[in-house]
Parts: sequence; C-alpha cells; structure tokens
Amino acid sequence: MSMSSAGSVSTKPVPLSETLTWRDLYEFYTDVQSSIAWRVKRYGRIYSWKPIRRVVMMLGADANQFVLVQNPKLFSAQQAWYESIGILFKGGLLNRDGSDHRQHRRLLMPVFRQQAINFYLEQAEPIIAQHLKAWPKDCPDIYLLVKELTLHIAIRSFFGIEDPKEIKLYNRYLSEIVAGSIAFIKAPVIGKTYQRALRARRELIKLLRPLVLKRRSEPTGDMVGQLCQSIDESGNILSDEEIIDQMLFIIMAAHDTTASTLASLFYELALNPEWQEILHEESQAVTAKKLSVSELPDSLESHHLVIKETLRKNTPLKLIPRVNLEAFTFEGYLLEAGQLISTCPAYSHFMEEYWTKPLQFDPLRFHADRAEHKTHPYAFMPFGGGVHTCIGQFFAEKILSVILHHIVSRYRWTVPNVETQKFQQVPIQVPKKRLPVELIRR
Ligand code: HEM
Repeated sequence: MSMSSAGSVSTKPVPLSETLTWRDLYEFYTDVQSSIAWRVKRYGRIYSWKPIRRVVMMLGADANQFVLVQNPKLFSAQQAWYESIGILFKGGLLNRDGSDHRQHRRLLMPVFRQQAINFYLEQAEPIIAQHLKAWPKDCPDIYLLVKELTLHIAIRSFFGIEDPKEIKLYNRYLSEIVAGSIAFIKAPVIGKTYQRALRARRELIKLLRPLVLKRRSEPTGDMVGQLCQSIDESGNILSDEEIIDQMLFIIMAAHDTTASTLASLFYELALNPEWQEILHEESQAVTAKKLSVSELPDSLESHHLVIKETLRKNTPLKLIPRVNLEAFTFEGYLLEAGQLISTCPAYSHFMEEYWTKPLQFDPLRFHADRAEHKTHPYAFMPFGGGVHTCIGQFFAEKILSVILHHIVSRYRWTVPNVETQKFQQVPIQVPKKRLPVELIRR
C-alpha cells in the first residue's frame, strides 16, 4: 500500500521513460494500453514521460485510491484540467477545487437526484424512439447518429427546448462546442475547430441568458429550470452566469462520454452477438410503457451488466489528471510539488490481479455471484472517484440502459469487418474513422 508523508526514509526518484518518437505518440493516441504496458514492464507502475509536457503516470488500483480518493487536499483537478478545458468550459466543476468546488457541487446535486432523472428519462424516451425509427438500414457511421441522439436528448431535457428551429440552433452551437472539447489543438489561432467552438460558446451564451431569466420566473423540470431553484443550507444560489457556465460544462461532460459508450456498445455487441439476444429477451419482458428509475435496475439487469463491461473495456476517459500541490511519497517514490500526474482507470480495468481473462468481453464478471469489480474498491473507475467523481453517473447508467433497451428491442446488427475496427483513445475513446453498422429490423 501507499505512504503519503513527504520526506519519509529512503525515497527514490520517479524513472523517466526515454525520449518520445512520433511512433510513440501515435501508439499513445491509438493504443494507450500497449503504450503503457511496455513502460510498466520496464519501469514499474510509477514512471514519468514527456508527450508534450512531463507527466508522472501513477498506475493501478492503489494509485487510483491514493490520488483520486484519499488525498483531496493534496491534488488539484483545476490545475490539471486547465490546459484542455479551462477556457472553453470555464467555471465548470472540474475547473474548481476545495471549498469553491464543494459549494458548487452541492448546488448542482439536486438536478442529479432520482426525481429529476425521472423527468429527463420521460423527455428522452419519445426522442429515442423517433431517432431509432429514422436510422437507415446501412448506417455509414453509427457514432454520428448516437451523437445526434444524445445531443437532442440533452437539448430537450437539460435546456427544455421544444421548438424545432431552436433545437437546430442549439444543436449547431453545442456540436461545435463539444467538437472543440476533443480538438487536438486548443489554440484559437491555429486550431480551427477550437476557434469555432469559442465562437459557438459566445453565440450560445446569448441564447442562454434570456432562457435563464425565463426559467427564474417560470420554473420548469428541465435542468436549467431546476438549477434556477437550487439553494443550499446557507441560502447561496447560483448566479445566471454560473448556471450558464455549469450547463456548458455538463453538456460536454455528458455528451462525449455517453456517445463514446454507445459507439462502444455497438462494437462490443457486434463482436458478441449472443449478448444482443440476451438483452433482446430481457427487453421483451419489460411491460412498462415508461421506464422510471426505480424499475430500471431490476427489469434491465443484463443491460446494466453489459454497460459496465463495455465501460471496463472501453473506458471513455482513460486518463484522469491531477497536479500535486505539495511534495509526497508513494510506494517509495518522491514526487516534488507541482507535477502533472495521471492516473489511468483503463489500466486497472485490465489488471490480472482483479479480473479473470481481462481481454474477454464477459458481462457476468459484474454479476453479484462473481463481483470481480469488488476485489479492490478502486480497480473499476470508469466514473472516477473521490470528490470529483462523476456527478452524472446515475443518470448516465440509466439513460444508457434505456437507449440500449430501445435499440435491442428494435434491431439486431452487425459491423462489417468488426475485428479491424480501430478507436482513437485520448482525450476520449471514439471510433478512429467511421463505425459502420448494418441494422436488421426485428
Ligand atoms: C458513460 C458516461 C460517463 C462517463 C464514463 C463519465 C466519466 C467521468 C469521470 C471519469 C469523471 C471524473 C473526472 C476527474 O475526476 O477528473 C467525471 C466527472 C464529471 N462528470 Fe461524468 N461521465 C459520464 C457521464 C456524465 C453525464 C451524463 C454527466 C451529466 C449529465 C456527467 C457530468 C460530469 C461532471 C459535471 C463531472 C465533474 C464532477 C466534479 O468535478 O465534481 N458525466 N465523469
């Protein structure tokens, strides 16, 4: 296990991996697992390397626990995330630390509770049905279609927008903003995608200001409406600007990850078609017209297992960064203050200490009878952990299972040349080119 006090006896410096070549960088973007695996063999689970800036990799379930969960005052999320999302998503939860973060998170909590989520699901179901009905038999790229679907759900249930013209406008701006969030170059002058995202942010803010004013005077069940009503025990509320900043961040955090998981579900279930049939059978037994949160875990149990296994194997956010505010030691290594550190849940998701045949797609490993994810409490971390743990986890699990339920109820599918499909892995896992899917109506 780990030790935390700086200056403890006989510490060693963190080894530095060799200078990187373009090939190393390419490997990192396309196959994080291999890029890490050979370095772990050579240096162990703590090493540093320099893709652009020096990063100390701290790998494994114990490291996840130490960095993300046990020592919130030692690590800054804000400093670590600033370069990638600090400007485009300023004011979002990951751009805040300490008491400032706690206060904002407390004010956001009510919009992620069960009652609120039931409202979002109610809004989402007809949209899911409408989109699925319109999907072509031969989808050239299912990732594009699931992105459109998840954005439409967010516009309806988070912003409460119903007018088709307005939906189109929101869709355009939000698509540009979320594209900016995963743009490789985040500099407004040379990065066209990023520049477009900053412009879209400005335009969207112009639409959101009057919307927030309206929701303040006429409360509604959508997320903006509820944030306008949120008040903590000391009487603090979020200002209009804070609501807008938080909403823009939430949309990005929700959209990229959910769309990534849906694309991975199509991929994994194409490789394992017997699970499409298991899910279909389970879905056939669902009689409720509307799926509420309280019914979901029981009626769609296999859906939940499949989603967990997909998130284990295809973790959308493979690296979770922090900056350490003070020096510390961990497993005998001394880390000076102010270093960029990266944990990697995607690494602990494949550790043979915790998972049986980790390369295999085996949803039953999460079943209560086996519960491999409980072998170490921090081996399975697709939603992170500790003070910044994903606030939308509950909603994500529910909406993914409802969407999957609708998909398997309506279709079975194949992915042409599925074994050769490739995924880009950072900053978030997405299909490398296109992910074509052939849908077969049931
Ligand atoms: C499969 C879907 C999702 C995955 C895999 C995921 C993953 C994560 C992870 C790993 C973090 C922690 C980042 C860190 O500690 O640095 C996080 C934070 C966060 N997520 Fe999610 N997320 C998902 C869906 C959602 C959804 C649907 C929402 C909102 C509706 C959401 C909102 C957030 C927010 C606001 C944070 C920041 C929390 C904080 O700083 O306190 N996420 N997410």
